[in-house]
Amino acid sequence: MLVLGIETSCDETAASVVEDGRWVRSDVVASQIRVHAAFGGVVPEVASRQHVATIVPVLRQAAADAGIDLADLDGIAVTAGPGLVGALLVGVETAKSLGYALGKPVVGVNHLAGHLAAVYLHDRAPATGASTDAPMPPPPPLPPDPHLALLVSGGHTALIRVDGPGQTALLGATRDDAAGEAFDKVGKMLGLGYPGGVVIDRLAATGNPSAFALPRALPRRDDLDFSFSGLKTAVSVMLQGRPLPEGAALADFAASFQAAVVDVLCRKARRAVVLQGIPHLVVCGGVAANRGLRAGLAAAAAEDGFQIYIPPPKRCTDNAAMIAAAGTRLLARGDRAGLDLSVDPGLPL
Ligand code: KG4
Ligand code: ZN
Repeated sequence: MLVLGIETSCDETAASVVEDGRWVRSDVVASQIRVHAAFGGVVPEVASRQHVATIVPVLRQAAADAGIDLADLDGIAVTAGPGLVGALLVGVETAKSLGYALGKPVVGVNHLAGHLAAVYLHDRAPATGASTDAPMPPPPPLPPDPHLALLVSGGHTALIRVDGPGQTALLGATRDDAAGEAFDKVGKMLGLGYPGGVVIDRLAATGNPSAFALPRALPRRDDLDFSFSGLKTAVSVMLQGRPLPEGAALADFAASFQAAVVDVLCRKARRAVVLQGIPHLVVCGGVAANRGLRAGLAAAAAEDGFQIYIPPPKRCTDNAAMIAAAGTRLLARGDRAGLDLSVDPGLPL
């Protein structure tokens, strides 16, 4: 089953062809970061206009990279929410037009369900690649159902129990800022531009995580909620009335902040494993690309005896392959969207 995924919920215009919900035949992501960086964050109207300008070339590239004609597709999966309304509309209207013109079924996919499905994806050598001799590494093991998921992105931070495709229960979530939002806001305070997450990750690699004492907010020990606004305020107070840290001090500050976020995420994830008695944890969303978090959770898993499943960094941040993977499961069970498919900027999981 060949499914085209389309993702335009925020500042990436992405399209991908995925075979059988698992094998990535193409994965095109056109990032708008450079356009938005000038404004210090994503400007919704600018994002919509960029999607309009980019969506058709991105789709053409995804088909060409996969070595297929769009007529070969079995279905189209598109992000219908949550996200920016104008940005989502570009993807959904494109998917509907394409589905109508080609006579292919279309499904709307929840962006968060897409992040959860990223773990099922595996690279496959392109059909028209230069060499087919290089052996592909064996696919990593897949998480069994039920499993737990720590979803950490720019807009969401949540612990979720996944009982099966499309069957999820929310165990805990952030009460204020998302983890990625905290990274980006602190990145801005440190003068690192937008988005700050990946820059803090890089700086933290050479810094001392104990150099600055930053708070860990752990709303009640036994609940699985998060809070990052106190940490953000603590950073802002600490930086007040002094020049911004530079060089080694900047690396130390980045490492100390990252350690505070990672520490809270790891503690709550470990707690979820114990409370739910489920020793399988998927980690997904943009912040799952963070090397400190990946290392912290790997150490926690080894110590507590649970399994972690983390997609490669490029599949943690927004992409369309994850939307195709989630959409394939919906199409396989017979879901079909009509031409009245709309977007929902606040779509819950
Ligand atoms: O999942 P995603 O690409 O988009 C949303 O659905 O929000 O996540 C984007 C977020 C941003 O806040 C970005 O700064 C953060 O993920 N992020 C990182 C890293 N890479 C992306 N945060 C920390 N370390 C990283 N390496
Ligand atoms: Zn996302």
